[in-house]
Amino acid sequence: MQDILQQLEAKRAKARLGGGEKRIAAQHAKGKLTARERLELLLDDGSFEEWDMFVEHRCADFGMADNKVPGDGVVTGYGTINGRLVFVFSQDFTVFGGALSEAHAEKICKVMDQAMKVGAPVIGINDSGGARIQEGVASLGGYAEVFQRNVMASGVVPQISLIMGPCAGGAVYSPAMTDFIFMVKDSSYMFVTGPEVVKTVTHEEVTAEALGGATTHTHKSGVADMAFDNDVDALLMLRRFFNYLPGNNRTAPPLRRSSDPADRTDHSLDTLVPDNPNQPYDIKELILKTVDDGDFFELQPDYAKNIVIGFARMDGQTVGIVANQPLVLAGCLDIKSSIKAARFVRFCDAFGIAVLTFVDVPGFMPGTSQEYGGIIKHGAKLLFAYAECTVPKITVITRKAYGGAYDVMSSKHLRGDVNFAWPHAEIAVMGAKGAVEIIFREEKGDPAKLAAREAEYKAKFANPFVAGARGYIDDVIQPHETRKRICRSLAMLAHKKVDDPWRKHSNIPL
Ligand code: HXC
Repeated sequence: MQDILQQLEAKRAKARLGGGEKRIAAQHAKGKLTARERLELLLDDGSFEEWDMFVEHRCADFGMADNKVPGDGVVTGYGTINGRLVFVFSQDFTVFGGALSEAHAEKICKVMDQAMKVGAPVIGINDSGGARIQEGVASLGGYAEVFQRNVMASGVVPQISLIMGPCAGGAVYSPAMTDFIFMVKDSSYMFVTGPEVVKTVTHEEVTAEALGGATTHTHKSGVADMAFDNDVDALLMLRRFFNYLPGNNRTAPPLRRSSDPADRTDHSLDTLVPDNPNQPYDIKELILKTVDDGDFFELQPDYAKNIVIGFARMDGQTVGIVANQPLVLAGCLDIKSSIKAARFVRFCDAFGIAVLTFVDVPGFMPGTSQEYGGIIKHGAKLLFAYAECTVPKITVITRKAYGGAYDVMSSKHLRGDVNFAWPHAEIAVMGAKGAVEIIFREEKGDPAKLAAREAEYKAKFANPFVAGARGYIDDVIQPHETRKRICRSLAMLAHKKVDDPWRKHSNIPL
């Protein structure tokens, strides 16, 4: 009996060693943690239940029959983060470069299937050389099995990808279909084709970091949501991020009441909007002063900065925040910002998270690059996402809400539940100057007359009361009471229910 127990321990020890001391040292030398060290940091102490530690690949080609490592390059199982259940897989680069074999894929699929059955999020840690080259099509099949599960889990349980090493070729499409992607600077990259192929095909010379590193994907492509300096920061921030999310689409996110009173007022907000309507201000100041404890988890902070998205809490309840940022491109909606916000709104809607929208938008960005790039279709994504969304929707227009962008930004007409405006709000088809130049074109030669027309237009429309008179705005509120009014509205909406007509699925303009 003792022998058997010892044998078990020896087997476990072998599995825990992955690709061996030398490769573990090489991993550390790159500033990376091992697959198991990462899970230790991510999960609550002692909560990890490992599965399939003894799984081996079944490949016999290219000398692989004698080259087996228990676990086969991925550590899988479940545990808790701050006491809440989560399923995990963590690719082990020390074993065949974390390359995905048929057996490796089966391990990932097993935890994904179980997560779906019990309604818990899945976190995948990616550090892999891609398809296990020795296995050929069996490996490709394995990827496709994972892809299919990513799609089935989408909108059912939250899925988060942490990229902590290579993630290349078709392998990128699994993280791409998850809800959020976090990367580590200088040690992770994602691309469909690597620098060598790029050089051969397009003659461009580019490093892996420039092509698909964390900075590229958080600044240029928008593929990733966040970039962190190292593995430890990424894992600890993910623990914090996890607290905002529900376990699945049928349970609410955890309520975390703080000592921040729901009726707290902030008089500094009364002077946030400058007197000059063309002068910018930082919408993040409003967010930080409104949410519980000034705690805002911003996503994609370096991409499409003209719109701000992220999670916060109001009176303990998770809310998704979308806000135009007047500091960047005057807060205009363009292609990138529309896509960024649309995907976020859809996540919130899928997982029952109320959407809080702060509006200061002069309109859609004009120009050939926007039109040629398809702003019509991409802007429609945000419009579609808001219109489709049935979670509680609260909107505060702080200043400008012009043209189509007024409609798009969670207006009353798109089933906004509570629509507030600050007294400075300007809600109209367009700015006064542009408007009078069109409707009084014949007076163009007379600047004095035109100025008078502009003043007249401004007086009539650059305020919230025209919209208020029609009930498009539920109330014009004092900026200092914004938090109080939102918290009350959220409480009122706690049991909101909307039934849409049956359909297989909508057809969002992709
Ligand atoms: C099998 C692999 C492997 C792979 C790496 N290894 N990638 N084994 N299949 N895909 C092994 C190496 O042989 C090596 O084994 C160990 O992992 C570490 O690799 P190194 O090359 O020493 O590490 P490093 O220098 O850090 O380079 C990492 C790397 C490189 C950039 C990922 O290994 C690489 O280019 N690998 C091939 C990538 C690739 O072409 N993959 C297939 C892409 S196609 P030893 O025993 O020496 O430690 C694809 C299609 C997916 O993925 C489609 C899905 C639909």
